[in-house]
Amino acid sequence: MNQPPDNDPQDSPPNKDHGRTRDRRRVMKLAILGATGSVGRELVSQARAAGHEVTALVRAEPKPGEIDDRVALVLGDATSADAVRRTVKGSDAVLSALGHAKGGPEDLLAQVSSNLIAAMQADGVSRLVVLSSSAVVDAADRPSLLYRAAGVLLRAVMPRVVRDHREQARLIEDSGLAWTIVRGPVVFTDGPHTGRSHAGPIGGDSGPRVSRADLADFMLASATDGGFVRMKPLVSQ
Ligand SMILES: NC(=O)c1ccc[n+]([C@@H]2O[C@H](COP(=O)([O-])OP(=O)(O)OC[C@H]3O[C@@H](n4cnc5c(N)ncnc54)[C@H](OP(=O)(O)O)[C@@H]3O)[C@@H](O)[C@H]2O)c1
Repeated sequence: MNQPPDNDPQDSPPNKDHGRTRDRRRVMKLAILGATGSVGRELVSQARAAGHEVTALVRAEPKPGEIDDRVALVLGDATSADAVRRTVKGSDAVLSALGHAKGGPEDLLAQVSSNLIAAMQADGVSRLVVLSSSAVVDAADRPSLLYRAAGVLLRAVMPRVVRDHREQARLIEDSGLAWTIVRGPVVFTDGPHTGRSHAGPIGGDSGPRVSRADLADFMLASATDGGFVRMKPLVSQ
């Protein structure tokens, strides 16, 4: 379970959960990709609310009020190695909530992962938290009927997206970085930010949905407290 969000990170004590020590007082420099997406927007706002310094890679100049104006923006495409290098430079951790956009490359996630891994290795940044899908498998998974059916459906309806998620996971797992691949459940919702979620291999206790806010909360907590390193938790409510 994640802990409920703190309103004032300066005053909150370190909490322990999942064997991790969560010291929310530590301000970090976070690089975020996919910052304009449905989960990415939550990531940016929660990271800023927690007092972290954020650099976001965006493809277009945001409209007024779209992104917190204290966020440092790198304007560019994530398939550009140079744009990714500039985004990652000097950060303590990198978070990616990228998704396939209409007309974009089928291998977007694999391309960007290669860029990210090279940029992070070159700059000595080791912590990487990436949003992924239940199409990525883990040896410890014991999927319920629901997740077995979802897997069949995903592979039938979006085989290229599944392939790209799996290739991204392969590249990241081989990278030597301190990675966490956060697998989203079947459905993302606009439900409330509770700070509570279930995380682990896909099993009988994996739910079908999670709110985008709680997914972002989990990603941010993992990036800042070092939990779930070299693991692929499925996060659900
Ligand atoms: N939605 C679900 O129910 C669900 C369930 C399970 C897993 N997932 C996975 O979760 C991830 C995120 O989902 P989401 O619904 O939050 O995605 P989303 O709302 O579609 O956001 C995608 C983000 O990626 C950015 N992006 C796409 N191509 C880019 C490029 N070439 N360069 C830079 N940025 C680029 C988009 O930027 P622009 O604003 O510029 O387009 C946007 O910020 C996806 O990988 C998806 O497969 C989703």
